[in-house]
Amino acid sequence: MSKMYEPNKGIFQNPVFKDMDDYKSLVKKFDDDYADTWGELARDNITWQKPFTDVLDESKAPFNKWFKDGKMNVAYECVDKHAKERGDSIAILFEADDGTNIKISYKQLAINVNKTANLFMGEYDIKKGDRVVLYMPMILEAIYSMLACAKIGAIHSIVFGGFSSQALRDRIIDAKARLVVTADGAYRKGKPYMLKPAVDEAMKSGCETVQNVCVVRRNFETIQTEPKDSFYDEHIQKQSEKLETVWHDSEDPLFLLYTSGSTGQPKGVQHNMAGYILWAKLTMGWVFDNRPEDTFWCTADIGWITGHTYIVYGPLANGTTTVVFEGVPTYPDAGRCWKMVEQHGINQFYTAPTAIRMLHKTGQDEPKKYDTSSLRVLGTVGEPIDPPAWKWYYEVVGQSRCSIVDTWWQTETGGHMVSPIASCTPIKPGCATLALPGISAQIIETDGEPTPIGEKGYLCITKPWPSQIRTIWGDDKRFVKAYFGDCKIHGKPVYFSGDGAMIDESGYITITGRTDDVINVSGHRIGTAEIEASIKYSGHVAASAVVGKPHEIKGEGIFAFIVLKDEGSISKDDLKLELNKILKADIGAIALLDDIIIVPDLPKTRSGKIMRRILRSIVKGEAITQDTSTLEDANIVGIIENLCK
Ligand code: PRX
Repeated sequence: MSKMYEPNKGIFQNPVFKDMDDYKSLVKKFDDDYADTWGELARDNITWQKPFTDVLDESKAPFNKWFKDGKMNVAYECVDKHAKERGDSIAILFEADDGTNIKISYKQLAINVNKTANLFMGEYDIKKGDRVVLYMPMILEAIYSMLACAKIGAIHSIVFGGFSSQALRDRIIDAKARLVVTADGAYRKGKPYMLKPAVDEAMKSGCETVQNVCVVRRNFETIQTEPKDSFYDEHIQKQSEKLETVWHDSEDPLFLLYTSGSTGQPKGVQHNMAGYILWAKLTMGWVFDNRPEDTFWCTADIGWITGHTYIVYGPLANGTTTVVFEGVPTYPDAGRCWKMVEQHGINQFYTAPTAIRMLHKTGQDEPKKYDTSSLRVLGTVGEPIDPPAWKWYYEVVGQSRCSIVDTWWQTETGGHMVSPIASCTPIKPGCATLALPGISAQIIETDGEPTPIGEKGYLCITKPWPSQIRTIWGDDKRFVKAYFGDCKIHGKPVYFSGDGAMIDESGYITITGRTDDVINVSGHRIGTAEIEASIKYSGHVAASAVVGKPHEIKGEGIFAFIVLKDEGSISKDDLKLELNKILKADIGAIALLDDIIIVPDLPKTRSGKIMRRILRSIVKGEAITQDTSTLEDANIVGIIENLCK
C-alpha cells in the first residue's frame, strides 16, 4: 500500500473541515436527511429573492428539479452581492501574455458586467433563454460576457478557441445561437494569434440563426469585417453602468458546454442555475479551503468545464480573487507559474497532470527560484496523475507543506465529486480518495452489485446531486441513454460516469480511466468516433479505428489503425500529414494523430463490430487476453501485432 500523507494542519486556519470527524459527521447528516441537508446548504449559501418550495423533485427522474420555484440570480451571487458588501476587494487579477496585470474590483466587475449585459440586450436584442456562443481568448471581456448572460438569463455556450471553424459551426447550429461573441485574437508566447477568421469561415453556411457577431479588439491585427459584425469597444462606452437584477428560476438553464461522447456528435451538456452555483461555491471552500481574502489560480481555459467552474463561477461565488491568465505556463520560461505565485501571493494553484508533467520535465528546479510560500493547496484534474509527477508537485512545488487535491469530476457533474478535502483528508499519490459529502459515489457492476475491493468496476453516482447535468441540449432521449442506460441498482437506473475505478479497504477511490470510446488527451476528452468520422473524408481510407496510446506528457496520444482502399496508394507519412490536415480543419489541433499504422484489416466480430479493446492492448504492448474466437478473422490480431512491433 502506498504511503499516506496527512494534511499539514498548521497551514489551515478555521477550515470548514478541521478533521475527518467533521467530514464524517456531514456525510452522516446527508445519510440521515439527504434533501434537508441540501436545502440547508442552499438557504445558507444563496440569496433567494423567493424561497424554494421543494428541495428535490424526483418525480420525473432522471429529469430532476432542485430548489423548485426558488428565484435567484447567478450573477448576483458572483458579483453584485460582493460589490455591495466588499466592493473594493479584487475579483479578477488578469495577467496578460506579456506579464501586464489588470486588477478588477468587485465594484468594477459589477459595472462591466452590467454594461456588457446592456450591450447584449440593447444592441443585439438578447433576451432570457437566447443562446450566445462565446469563441473567446482568456481575456476579461470573456468573463464579462459569461456573467452578462447569467444576469440576463441568456444561455452561454463557450466553444474552446482551439476548435476549428467547422467544430464551431456545428455547435452554433446545434445551439441555434443568436449572438456570437469573439475577439480578433489574442497573444500567445509573445505573438498574436487569430480567432475571428474561424468565425468568418463558420458563418459562411448554416448559421442563419446568428444575427450578430460582436468582436472584441484584443491584438488589433487586421481582420475582415462582415455585415453582421460590430465592435465591442465601439458600443460599450455608451452603455449604462446600472442594471436591475432580474430574478431567475432555480431551474432556468445557465449554460451549455459541448463535450465528446462515444458517438460522432458532441453533446451539449446543459447546466441550470441554482444547483450549479451552489456546488461551485461549496467545493471552493470545502476542497480548496478557499476564502474571500485568498488569491486562487486555475490554469484551465474558460472553454472547458474546469474554466467555467473554477476560474469564473466558483471563485466569484466564493468572493475570492481569481487569476485569469492569457498566456501559457512555459513562456517566457518554465518558471512562469512560480513567478506568478510569488508575485501575486497565490494560495491555491489548480492545474492538469499534463501541465505538471511538462513543467517537471522542462523546469524541475524552477520552483526553487521563487518564493512560493503563499501556497496552501495544489490541485490536479482531468486525468490520473502518475507517481513521479505527483512527487515533484508535492515535494518541490508544495515543499511537502501543501495538500494535493486530486479532484475527479466531469463536464456533466458541474463540480468536484471524488476528491480530498485539503484541510482534513489524508492523501495518497494518484488517488482521488473519497466522495465529497452529499455525493453518493459507488463502484459497481452493471447489475448494481458492489465491485470487490481492489477490482475495477464502474464509477456511478447513485443519488441525484444539485450540479448534475440536466439534459443534453435538444436530445432528452440521448441524455437518458448516455448516462442512465448502463448501470442499475435494484432495477433503478443510476448515473454512470463512463469511468472505471477501484476502491481499497479504506474506501479510497482510484480512477482507472474511461471505459468507453473516449480518449483523454492532455486532460481533454475526445471521442474516437468523432475522429473516425473526420478520417472518412480522406479518399485513401477504407476503414479506421482510433485508440488512445500512453503518452509521456499528454497522458494519452491519439493512434489510428488505417485500412487503405488501395494498398500502397500512399505512404504512411503522407497519409498522416493528410489526415492531420483534415482533423485540424474538422475538429481542431487537439484531435491531431500522434501516430498511425496502415493495416490490411481491423479485428471485427462477425457482425462487423470493431474490437477496439484488442487494439488498445496492442498499442500498449499488453498481452491479448480477450477472447478472439468471435472475430471474423482471428489471424488479423497476430498480423497487426507484428506490424506494431
Ligand atoms: O475520465 C475522467 C477524467 O476526465 C473525464 C472528464 O472530462 P471532462 O468532462 O473534459 O472534464 C475534465 C475536467 C473535470 C472523466 O470522465 N478525469 C477527470 N478528473 C480526473 C480524471 N481522471 C482521473 N483522475 C482525475 N482526477
